[in-house]
Amino acid sequence: MIIRQFSPPDLRSVMEIVKTSLSETYPPSLYLTLHNIWGDGFMVVEDGGRIVAFVAAVESERHIARVLMLAVLREYRGRSLGSMLMKELYTRCVSNGIHTVKLEVRKSNKVAMTFYEGQGFSVTGELKNFYIDGEGAFVMTKILES
Ligand SMILES: CC(C)(COP(=O)(O)OP(=O)(O)OC[C@H]1O[C@@H](n2cnc3c(N)ncnc32)[C@H](O)[C@@H]1OP(=O)(O)O)[C@@H](O)C(=O)NCCC(=O)NCCS
Repeated sequence: MIIRQFSPPDLRSVMEIVKTSLSETYPPSLYLTLHNIWGDGFMVVEDGGRIVAFVAAVESERHIARVLMLAVLREYRGRSLGSMLMKELYTRCVSNGIHTVKLEVRKSNKVAMTFYEGQGFSVTGELKNFYIDGEGAFVMTKILES
């Protein structure tokens, strides 16, 4: 199992994980743009050549990263891959001078909220009608130790 930066040939696999794990999908161009604007923030986990998890984050404001997507293939969940990806993201954030990580999570996504709380995130805001289907989001924030 290795963590490495996303590269364009991973696109199809990443989009497949999004389709099966997240409730919203995005055009291929978005992933390539994310890769181009901050390659360090877009990482995949590879298991014997298969992409099984990924995280995509951007530097949304100066010194602040925003996690846009994090997903692990269903059969690989509960095996610390999400934790490994976030740990690697924090390391890359710190080496890029980023000290705060933010994200939005669906109010109904209790598993993700538990996961992020375990990662040291806390709820710092709320966004009404954040998702296309009208569901609201909690904003969660973690301050990184440098
Ligand atoms: C959220 C997600 C990324 C977690 O990834 P993961 O690799 O399964 O998580 P880990 O194995 O690293 O788990 C770390 C901790 O998170 C919590 N957690 C993970 N899965 C959980 C579950 N099903 N129920 C409750 N807590 C859970 C636990 O506290 C766990 O610690 P433990 O192993 O000591 O119990 C994964 O469930 C996923 O891909 N979900 C679908 C996509 C999604 O919701 N993404 C987030 C969008 S904001």
